Amino acid sequence: MTRLIIDCDPGHDDAMAILYAARHLNLIALTTVFGNTSLQNATRNALAICALAGLDVPVAAGMSEPLVAARSTAADIHGHSGLDGATLPEPTRAPDPRHAVQLIIDEARAHPGELTLAPIGPLTNIAVALKTEPRLAHWLKGITWMGGSTTVGNITAMAEFNAYCDPEAAAVVFASGVPIHMAGLNVTRQAGIGPEHLAQLAATGGPVGRCFAGLLGFYLARTREIFGLTHASMHDPCALLPLIRPDLITHQPAPVHIELASAQLRGMTACDLRRVNAESARTVHPNARANAQVAVAIDGPAAVDHVIRTLLGYDERAAQPAGC
Ligand code: BDR
Ligand code: CA
Repeated sequence: MTRLIIDCDPGHDDAMAILYAARHLNLIALTTVFGNTSLQNATRNALAICALAGLDVPVAAGMSEPLVAARSTAADIHGHSGLDGATLPEPTRAPDPRHAVQLIIDEARAHPGELTLAPIGPLTNIAVALKTEPRLAHWLKGITWMGGSTTVGNITAMAEFNAYCDPEAAAVVFASGVPIHMAGLNVTRQAGIGPEHLAQLAATGGPVGRCFAGLLGFYLARTREIFGLTHASMHDPCALLPLIRPDLITHQPAPVHIELASAQLRGMTACDLRRVNAESARTVHPNARANAQVAVAIDGPAAVDHVIRTLLGYDERAAQPAGC
């Protein structure tokens, strides 16, 4: 089973992704990064989510600031705590004493060729890890990232939030040579959470269902208010689909350029989907070598259904008599 570290900034959809991955993959650790909220909140939220779902994995805190630019947050969408909308249990464990970057390097060194990273926030921890230990690029099996877009952005006209938060870090990761899958807004916005999903979660009567009904109720209300959408995008779990349900998502190899220079386009992921792959074309377009598998299509309703069913499973198992 895939050995996985999720690098996250919980975040409502991050919390969904953590519980989704934990049921289907060998989730060995969580690492946290600034993004939707401060590093301190993100780390506490990750520990609280683990307490809620009974997940016993190390949680290590990482970078609190981007490599170069000033820090952004998404308090408008996720609230001031990063996970507004429900009262989470108190964390039952302390963070791992290691820095997230050290934990990632240690795990990759110990299991070369076996570790996949699923960053679902800004790419700062991953970039610092690659710069700190250049052999990491050879040790990793792959990276599957929620971020970017082949079309429009959400934080600016052309930039998606995770890319915009630290474009220099994204540029390091996309230049690393590690096999990358990218799930951008062009697919994640087709995976919509609506009132029908909140009702399903609330109906379990169990702690995970009740908590996520509250969390996603807040997230949906904010999405409606800010973007005028009837459904809230289930962004982060989409990064896990290539590992769990590859039948639900389609990728195309493409050169991805991270825009750093233009003030208007900073953080844009310019995906060259023209299929300029032939050697002859590369002499004309020297940057045409694909550096990622970019998601271009998704069965959004089926993806949401699979994730919600997985969340419902936590309460079903908890309701079973001991020994079942
Ligand atoms: C991304 O930004 C965050 O707000 C979400 O958690 C997701 O990772 C979507 O743009
Ligand atoms: Ca996130």
